[in-house]
Amino acid sequence: MVPNNDSSQNLINFSEKAAIDELVRVHKEILLADVAYYQENNPVMHDSEYDKLVVYFETIRKTHPAAAKKTRLQIGIGGKPQLGFEKVDHKIPMLSLNNALNRLDIENFQKGIKKFLKLNVDTEIAFTSEPKIDGLSLSLRYLDGNLVQAVTRGDGYQGENVTSNIRFIRDVPKKLSEKISVLEVRGEVYMSRNNFSSLNQAQIEKGLKIFANPRNAAAGTLRQLKVEEGSDRRLNFFAYSWGETSNLLGQGQFEAVNKLAELGFKTNELTQKCETIDELISHYEKILIERADLNYDIDGVVYKVDELRLQKRLGFTSTAPRWAIAHKFPSETAVTQILNIEIQVGRTGSLSPVARLKPINVGGVMVSNATLHNEDYILGLDGEGTKIRNGVDIRIGDWVEVYRAGDVIPKVSSVILDKRPSDAKKYIFPK
Ligand code: IVH
Repeated sequence: MVPNNDSSQNLINFSEKAAIDELVRVHKEILLADVAYYQENNPVMHDSEYDKLVVYFETIRKTHPAAAKKTRLQIGIGGKPQLGFEKVDHKIPMLSLNNALNRLDIENFQKGIKKFLKLNVDTEIAFTSEPKIDGLSLSLRYLDGNLVQAVTRGDGYQGENVTSNIRFIRDVPKKLSEKISVLEVRGEVYMSRNNFSSLNQAQIEKGLKIFANPRNAAAGTLRQLKVEEGSDRRLNFFAYSWGETSNLLGQGQFEAVNKLAELGFKTNELTQKCETIDELISHYEKILIERADLNYDIDGVVYKVDELRLQKRLGFTSTAPRWAIAHKFPSETAVTQILNIEIQVGRTGSLSPVARLKPINVGGVMVSNATLHNEDYILGLDGEGTKIRNGVDIRIGDWVEVYRAGDVIPKVSSVILDKRPSDAKKYIFPK
């Protein structure tokens, strides 16, 4: 338990002996909570209470460095807040994916595979096709079915130990349904569009910086050091791959992903096995149509050779697997004109300027409004007064490039100054 009164004030009055005793007591309490949470899947306290306890522990350590040194107590799996993240080497690198933009690229990808494997050109190769989630990849290590470590991708060879922040990801099981001796599961951490909107709304109400898109918000949340901030920033996780394993998860990619679901992971419902290129393309088109209605951002579809034996034979180049490719969605930008700028009053009374646009099709969706955030944004400045869009302001009548990325609400990425009409009107922000 954290004492109710202002703990940091009281702590200063602690003798070294009292500080040591308190460190030992709190450390024990954190350890017990960790065991209950990670190993028994049966939390003994609320997350916010746990977070407070960790912060309290760190505060004692900071206020009484001599006592901290003597006890040598640190927080392990439960959290290592405010100290920065430890670097961890990936046993198997977390590589990137090559990109394809059209059918021809996919055909060439498949030809390359057949050539590498010395297969007849007429042989059909089955692929697993699944959305490319626009988040951050994460590697989760399980020993005997218990989560022991979570590491970010980093540069692919070395990532950061973010185990302490895994509490914010409800989709990550702390215990698997089977006691597999070693299993490293890989997948994507993301923030749902709903959570992203409420987070940004809360940031506005607190007068804090808003996040540009769910991906940035997820990255910020996963890597944040101040534990107590985490509680209103929920993250999600889709499992789609694996690293080191003591057991084979299946014969094929599709079967292995289903096995991950059985073990307790969320896997993406739009994952499908396709036998031909035609099937891949029609699955891609289906996902492209469903994209706008999903509660998370995706930026393409990933095709993976299904048979794991073939994946193994194909192996990796220095940057990407030979057995997978990302079929990216067409760029979601378009050029249109600003017809007017109006003020919208939010639920909380906040004022946000909106650009009314000449309607335009952006990546398959008709767009007629774009958010302009605030007065500074219109003037070409961010919250800290730094120039954005090269410091170019936005005027009524301007031709602008709009994009739909991350956020479902379209944004203005640049002003086409060459096309600025002579009568373009500066917008006067109402007082
Ligand atoms: S497979 C060895 N599958 O895309 C290849 N990656 O551009 C492992 N990503 O770093 C990646 N959704 O963060 C794979 N369904 C998916 C994915 C996916 C998103 C990300 C991942 C990777 C990046 C590569």
